[in-house]
Amino acid sequence: MTAAPRCDRTPAWARLRELHAGGGDRFDLRDAFAADAHRFADFSYEAPEVFADLSKNLIDRATRDALLALARDCRIEERRDALLAGTPANATEGRSVLHTALRAPPGHGAHSAEVHGVLERMLGFVERIRDTARSGIRDIVNIGIGGSDLGPQMAVPALDAFVQHDLRFHFVSNVDGHDIAPVLRDLDPRTTLFIIASKTFTTQETMANATVAREWFLANGGGDTRRHFVATTTNVDAAAAFGIETTFGFWDWVGGRYSLWSAIGLPIALAIGAAHFRDLLAGAHAMDRHFAEAPLESNLPILLGLLDVWYRNFLGFTSRSVAPYHQGLRRLPAYLQQLEMESNGKRVDLDGEPLPFATSPVVWGEPGTNGQHAYFQMLHQGTDVIPVEFILVREPTHPYRDLHAKLLANGLAQAQALMLGKSTAQARSERAPTAAATIDPDVLARHRTFTGNRPSTTLLLERLTPRALGALIAMYEHRVYTSGALWAINSFDQWGVELGKALCNDLLPRLDSGDTDGLDASTAGLLQRLRG
Ligand code: F6P
Repeated sequence: MTAAPRCDRTPAWARLRELHAGGGDRFDLRDAFAADAHRFADFSYEAPEVFADLSKNLIDRATRDALLALARDCRIEERRDALLAGTPANATEGRSVLHTALRAPPGHGAHSAEVHGVLERMLGFVERIRDTARSGIRDIVNIGIGGSDLGPQMAVPALDAFVQHDLRFHFVSNVDGHDIAPVLRDLDPRTTLFIIASKTFTTQETMANATVAREWFLANGGGDTRRHFVATTTNVDAAAAFGIETTFGFWDWVGGRYSLWSAIGLPIALAIGAAHFRDLLAGAHAMDRHFAEAPLESNLPILLGLLDVWYRNFLGFTSRSVAPYHQGLRRLPAYLQQLEMESNGKRVDLDGEPLPFATSPVVWGEPGTNGQHAYFQMLHQGTDVIPVEFILVREPTHPYRDLHAKLLANGLAQAQALMLGKSTAQARSERAPTAAATIDPDVLARHRTFTGNRPSTTLLLERLTPRALGALIAMYEHRVYTSGALWAINSFDQWGVELGKALCNDLLPRLDSGDTDGLDASTAGLLQRLRG
């Protein structure tokens, strides 16, 4: 395959510029809906387990066509196929990127025998531990950080309705002892299983917490560490050196932030059981097939990636807010932050050339309706336009129907309010009971005006099942790949995390010795104050 064409060097990019200058920057959603009775149908998409309404986004058909042309100019299908076939897409580390192989059925996908070998062994272990009467295990502590933490930490609460409730799950990630201390305080070592999750088995935070956990275990009469500590890692030797015998491996072609489908998913499998874990993989695989096979015009991850490029590079939006209207998805924004920002927060292209355009947006959010009572004010009336991604789930897995109806109505209403806004004339004509009696009504009306025309996407799931969650997460992975591929960046390395790690290694002994030689004045001053 020849070098990937960069988006800004294509004819479609020039066309998008024209469209932007010729009115794309003044596009009005309200006019678009008024002019087109079919807009909802035409901008809605069905993918496995996910229905996506893109109609409240700032695009028209011409822009969509030009974005699809951009995908073709950048040969996205060819590059996607090469990625899925295992061509080393992570060029700076010389690695293939094959997390999709982890969810392919037996006999399909690369490395199938190894993948299913580990999976079967892991799921056998899972069922033995879940037999709590026999295993005696009641508490499971996952010690890991980044990709070795955020996936399980997101998925276990998301799938709460499927979790075996005589097991309790704890996640320790931060090297801050305030993370592990309260967890250990309530545990009995004889009924606790520790999972030391680290792709490299060298990460400072994880190794430090694992050491604390082992010391606590031995000091509190835990007995046999071999029965109570397991590892999920590509570095089986380092796990053995730590004294762990039960290890579930994975491979360097699984990126940390793409690893919840591998042995890193062990806490998820322990929580929901082997059959449901297989459903999670099957949902992701169904989305993989969609990504691999659906035509560009109806390929949801590709369309979302294209929209991200339009927003970032033409409309200049710097962030995207994720609003899952499902409390179980409370850790989804944090999960997506790593997925998107660690993947696409890059400033040079594959040839190392500085990019003349912006890449990853900031991804952030909170579950609805909580966010409504915190930062939605800014989304509605702030000076920045921030596209919002609403995630609504039609069927709850709890019995409180009235609560669920309120939740859904809130989600719909927020998307509607962002789009419709409220004119100053309308605000002027309304009573505002809490307004100061003395304020000039015209001034008040300006405070109560909503410009509207603020974009949002709504993703609808039927029910938050393991299968649906698998499909949703895989959709996000492929969307991030798409925008990264158009930008011609390497979405699969993370050199940006290294400098801070190296400097930390230099500063750690200085905290003890007080040596500030060669440090900048600010760091030296702070270090001295911290030493007390
Ligand atoms: O520091 C970033 C990072 O390398 C992430 O990419 C990764 O998910 C995380 O650290 C944890 O790494 P490991 O699984 O090797 O402990």
